[in-house]
Amino acid sequence: MPGPLLDTLKGVKQPVAPIWLMRQAGRYLPEYRELRAVMGGVLELVYDRESAADITVQPIRRFAFDGAILFSDILIVPHAMGQGLEFLAGEGPKMSPTLREVELDDFTPAYERFEPIYETVRQTRAMIADSVTMLGFAGSPWTVATYMIAGEGSKDQGPARLMAYRDPARMQAICDAIAEVSITYLRGQIDAGAEAVQLFDSWAGSLAPDEFERWVIAPNAKITAAIKQSHPDTPVIGFPKGSGAKLPAYARETGVDAVGLDETLDPHWAHASLPEGMPVQGNLDPLLVEAGGPALPARCKTILEAFEDRPHIFNLGHGIGQFTPISHVEELLEAVRG
Ligand code: CP3
Repeated sequence: MPGPLLDTLKGVKQPVAPIWLMRQAGRYLPEYRELRAVMGGVLELVYDRESAADITVQPIRRFAFDGAILFSDILIVPHAMGQGLEFLAGEGPKMSPTLREVELDDFTPAYERFEPIYETVRQTRAMIADSVTMLGFAGSPWTVATYMIAGEGSKDQGPARLMAYRDPARMQAICDAIAEVSITYLRGQIDAGAEAVQLFDSWAGSLAPDEFERWVIAPNAKITAAIKQSHPDTPVIGFPKGSGAKLPAYARETGVDAVGLDETLDPHWAHASLPEGMPVQGNLDPLLVEAGGPALPARCKTILEAFEDRPHIFNLGHGIGQFTPISHVEELLEAVRG
């Protein structure tokens, strides 16, 4: 179904930039916190299709964003691969056993865990207007591997980086396995109604150049090629956070349709360095939205101007923070939509 966000991803610049925010469904919304308190935790919400669809639509009701991103988590893929997963309140994800302790083959896959998520996509698609784009997503193999190996978030992704140097064949097998499951998962989301998908490579920035080629560019290219083969009309957004000067190579070599820009990138540099006409998304510092003040609309203007001559989706450089005041999101929308 057409809409300004999907049209932009297909390369058609819109008079007013479409907007959605990474992590737009989440803890900064009182209606999310309320539902989470009733349901228990993140996993309970993700696997309950009614709750997950409702949470996906919450930010659309409040802010009329142009895109609805499926409420799920990148760690649902390892969970379906058979790794234990818990979200402990205030501590983030805990996965066990880790891939430092056991082999991939020791896991018993439970792919039926994807079924309620496809159902969430179907229900959400039926709840939102045709002009709102339904977005699916998966984590990229490298980023997902960093959690599977460390068993939790890690400061510098040290455990995964060490494994990549000490035993590249093992890391390759892990990334190949994650890619294969993610391809199935993304195709299932698209078949259920996702109109575009985003690959989150949140920890792409921790890799040295050759490592970036092998663990970021190659796996994202593989997933994108598989999606293009089965669903040639579904745009793929790549978000290799922290990739810096390696972003243009990522944009040229992975085959993604659009790239996400984190907040550290100069938007003028990005415009000058990325392939002509390639849609871009992102760039506003989520902490500036949390802080608010006159710098917020000023920065929005700078970003909009930098991408005046290129299809552009307004978004943040990373997920919106849980302490962001709702009124600041409204000011951001005013600055973008006028
Ligand atoms: O609104 C949306 O963007 C859709 C839902 C979504 C979630 N996680 C829900 C969630 C998406 C797209 C993600 C992606 C995700 N999850 C990433 C990639 C993007 C990024 O932020 O870097 C990563 C690395 C994860 C893994 C993850 N999930 C961590 C490290 C944590 C704990 C820390 C944190 O930010 O809360 C989560 C939990 C999580 N996933 C929450 C939400 C709304 C917070 C849950 C809560 O406490 O209620």
